[in-house]
Amino acid sequence: MNYTKWWKQAVIYEIYLRSFYDSNGDGVGDLQGIIQKLDYIKDLGVDAIWVTPFYQSPLDDMGYDISDYCSILLEFGTMEDFERLVHESHRRGIKVVIDMVLNHTSDEHPWFVESRSSKTNPRRDWYVWHPGIKGDLPNNWQSAFQGSAWEYDELTGEYYLHQFSKKQPDLNWRNPQVREAMFDMIRFWLDKGVDGLRLDIINSLIEDGDFRDNIFIDNGLKIDYSKIYNNLDVAPEKIIDYTRNQPETYSIVRELRNKVIERYKDIFTVGEAYPCSPEVAGELAGEGKLDVCFHFDFLFLNKRDVRSFKEIISRWEGSIKDRGPGAWNCYYLSNHDMPRQVSVFGSEKYYKESAAMLAAFLLTLPGTIFMYQGEEIGMTDVKFNAIEHYRDIMCVNYYKRLVEEGVDLDTALSEAQKMSRDNARTPMQWSNEKHGGFTMGTPWLGVNENYRDINVRAQQGDTKSILSFYKTLIKLRKDYKTLVYGSYKPLLEEHQQVMAYIREDEHAKLLVILNMSEQMVNLQEPLDGTIDIRNTVLLIANTDQGNPFQLKPFEVRIYLV
Ligand code: GLC
Ligand code: CA
Repeated sequence: MNYTKWWKQAVIYEIYLRSFYDSNGDGVGDLQGIIQKLDYIKDLGVDAIWVTPFYQSPLDDMGYDISDYCSILLEFGTMEDFERLVHESHRRGIKVVIDMVLNHTSDEHPWFVESRSSKTNPRRDWYVWHPGIKGDLPNNWQSAFQGSAWEYDELTGEYYLHQFSKKQPDLNWRNPQVREAMFDMIRFWLDKGVDGLRLDIINSLIEDGDFRDNIFIDNGLKIDYSKIYNNLDVAPEKIIDYTRNQPETYSIVRELRNKVIERYKDIFTVGEAYPCSPEVAGELAGEGKLDVCFHFDFLFLNKRDVRSFKEIISRWEGSIKDRGPGAWNCYYLSNHDMPRQVSVFGSEKYYKESAAMLAAFLLTLPGTIFMYQGEEIGMTDVKFNAIEHYRDIMCVNYYKRLVEEGVDLDTALSEAQKMSRDNARTPMQWSNEKHGGFTMGTPWLGVNENYRDINVRAQQGDTKSILSFYKTLIKLRKDYKTLVYGSYKPLLEEHQQVMAYIREDEHAKLLVILNMSEQMVNLQEPLDGTIDIRNTVLLIANTDQGNPFQLKPFEVRIYLV
């Protein structure tokens, strides 16, 4: 077992920069804002922060559309602020992971401006252009944000590819000049001392060179693709996909490792991939590749589903041995692209208990753990009363499409509310002061009204708060590395309400029991035929203990066996 890599045992805290803390009253979170909150982050006990994009950007996709990779958008701060952030984080023993968006640039990036200017421009081939077929689209590829992935450009009469918004043209990664330019850019940031990279949608770099149509199949029948509005609408197993998970993408990842990452010390890389099965993760991550891959298996369940949770963990843990040397897993329940975990997987009735249960679930899983800002205080989804209050392009597009299809406005709004990425992006709730203490000005996106009850300050002094529970669990994970490296053995696999497992290595044996339901549950002893919980030591629980064989709704117990 290699215990030397810092990231294996790390809990990494994702910061959605725009919404974390605004230091200068313009309503937008900024780098200085993170610096001011580093002591809070340190106190939480996490090892690293992942900061979402802060580069020059017209903000069509809130910074994932970059127009200059090597300079910082003024509303986020300056290069000095960034260097200070790295310095101040390191001073506190916190590592810094930054977001790298490699698949596409902004259409306002000078490279694209040149590329679009004429068919003979030297940078024409830096993006993916196609003349179209008989005056129509090149093929049926879909954007993740709705509609065709092709946009017709008047100037030269050709189409360019954009797997996300039309202001995010895809780079042509087959072009060696593109690869070199992007590798140089990554070196620029690594030279500044960052400790890791989160590689945005890394499995989309290369598309089929023959531009073959994607094929959508359901039960052996082809689905009419004209009915599909975005490529997230269809389950991955129903698509023969020529835009994602292409073998050439896998070789680029290895090239990146060889030519760039390997030249630095201890750089952590996590790739975002959708769709991502264990097989795909095996291609993208492991020795000579990236370190880990995000998969979306929990998030796409979209509800609390105990049996599926069990099945997902068993599948990912079980696949490690088949994925070759260096295979490692990571888990998370929330990020900036998904609704809030308590709203999706928890319970309104047992709000606090369920938030604590999810914390205990996440922080007792093997591997590298990611958590998302606000999760530690149990932040919830927001319901803005009009579409005008939403900023997320994906949700606004979705709303428009529903309305175009004739769906009534109320239903369209409630559908948009449920899926909006703004659920995760409302400003961090620091206190019960105006705007949750996030800004002295007007926040760029409305603060969730429940900030008066749910906020950091209210929870800081309370030993029974969700925040305190997170801190205790993070510390437990530090004290018992078994939770990181130990084996994972599921118990009660058929149980519909309770999730239970053993984490074990040569140092310790821990038993985790999570009631994932709103009901009282009676446990049948002995749990796996051997363990008698009366002979164990209770390390952590989220309720006062009564009958050891009865679990209250969302009760969590972690025992030392
Ligand atoms: C990733 C990001 C998301 C962004 C998209 C396009 O999925 O997490 O926020 O919109 O890539 O860059
Ligand atoms: Ca600001």
